[in-house]
Amino acid sequence: MSDSPDNKMVGFVIFGVTGDLTRRKLLPALYALAKETKLPHPIKIIGFARRPWTRQILGEKLRDGIAEFAREKPVDSTVVTELLADAVYIQTDFEDVQGYSTLQALLEKEKIDKVLYYLATPPSAYNTILENLHVCARRPAKKNGWMRIVVEKPYGRDLASAQELDERIHGCFREDEIFRIDHYLGKETVQNILVFRFANGIFEPLWNNHYIDHIQITVAETVGVGSRAGYFDKAGIIRDMFSNHMLQLLTLTAMEVPYAFNASSVRDEKLKVLKALRSYGMKQALANTYRAQYRGGNVEGDKAAAYLEEERVQPGSTTETFMAAKLFVDNWRWSGVPFYLRCGKRMHKRTTEISIQFKQVPLPLFDWQNLAGNAPNVLTLRLQPDEGINLSFGAKVPGPVNEIAPVDMDFSYEDAFGKKPPEAYERLLLDGLAGDATLFTRSDEAIAQWQFTQDIITAWEQERIKELPQYYPGSWGPSGVDEFIARDGRRWLNPD
Ligand code: BG6
Repeated sequence: MSDSPDNKMVGFVIFGVTGDLTRRKLLPALYALAKETKLPHPIKIIGFARRPWTRQILGEKLRDGIAEFAREKPVDSTVVTELLADAVYIQTDFEDVQGYSTLQALLEKEKIDKVLYYLATPPSAYNTILENLHVCARRPAKKNGWMRIVVEKPYGRDLASAQELDERIHGCFREDEIFRIDHYLGKETVQNILVFRFANGIFEPLWNNHYIDHIQITVAETVGVGSRAGYFDKAGIIRDMFSNHMLQLLTLTAMEVPYAFNASSVRDEKLKVLKALRSYGMKQALANTYRAQYRGGNVEGDKAAAYLEEERVQPGSTTETFMAAKLFVDNWRWSGVPFYLRCGKRMHKRTTEISIQFKQVPLPLFDWQNLAGNAPNVLTLRLQPDEGINLSFGAKVPGPVNEIAPVDMDFSYEDAFGKKPPEAYERLLLDGLAGDATLFTRSDEAIAQWQFTQDIITAWEQERIKELPQYYPGSWGPSGVDEFIARDGRRWLNPD
């Protein structure tokens, strides 16, 4: 751990410390930062939750979580012991004011005036915590003191609830103290979208409607909804992935160059993209989106349940587990270029990638057989898992017969840097502790994401369909989604 500049203790308060997020993501990330001496020191972890745990149980559970989910093993037990040495547990109901007074008294007693509050509870508890946090979250009087709050997604479940949450959170915290997490922004490869675009001279001149035919953004997972079915059935993939991760990937791909790499200018540019999204009325929303649900089948030799058979899914549910959408960013750079977005559970392959398909040459010069058909150049940013970048182009097949074949230039993170990129949460926690909000969603962005998504949600709700098209697990979606893009004379660029 590295000493905090003035050696003052930093408080890391986790609401919902007993949950999965803390065990799987937060503590392993804190451990990795401590191990690399990047975490401010001293730091005190203060767990706040309902379960009847003690300080000792908290220590054991957090230790187990680190042992199981740490990125690099074996785990260094000295670092873990030091990280957890000061940890305390406040057992309380979130409605109980007493719990917050205990927290406040603890912070005062230990003179902790740098505090990061972390909302790691189910979102249904956010409003209660924020209401009660008024009791304790008094802005530190000391010059070097600060308080910040990290809020996990989902940030509301529609436009109205996001606006309400935003109002409530602003009742307690200033905007520069609020860190709304979209963990995709913590991924190295997602940050690399901006580096790729703005630290290299050769791509940006081509990055517009003169040269780009269309863009595809795919976030596919092989897992089903599993134990999260209860939550998912009320959310659907549109709230779970589209309204946040997918739209964030779109903004990074489409934004203009910011005047500096800082929180205000990067987020200003991202906001402009969201504002330029063509909004859809009912008819257009239905015509430009496609949704479906996974059926039962075999996944790697095991029988997998259909969505409708998953525990806690409502009988006859029409919640989508897959969606595709065609979006337009109506500004000078992107006018006329469709962005096709698709995301889904139980798909063929776990993959997140952005493919930029360039326009064809204006006139074919070679009257030769092109083995790739009319293969256009495609630049693919592979964000995960096999992180890298690929550019496909046509090359002459050696020999006396005139033929062109598609070939690739490929960059792999692991080959180039000798290691896999670190976990998103490591970067995000570090930035939250340092007060750098560049990789977090700003209030106006969060609301703009919902404004766009709400039109689709409303159209879907009003359509009142009885059942959704179904797709087999391990597929790229039902045939309808191929027709969806084929209407425009295009096809999905499926990773092999
Ligand atoms: C979460 C969604 O935000 O992102 C999950 O709630 C999804 O449903 C997850 O599985 C995917 O994250 P990653 O980092 O594995 O791509």
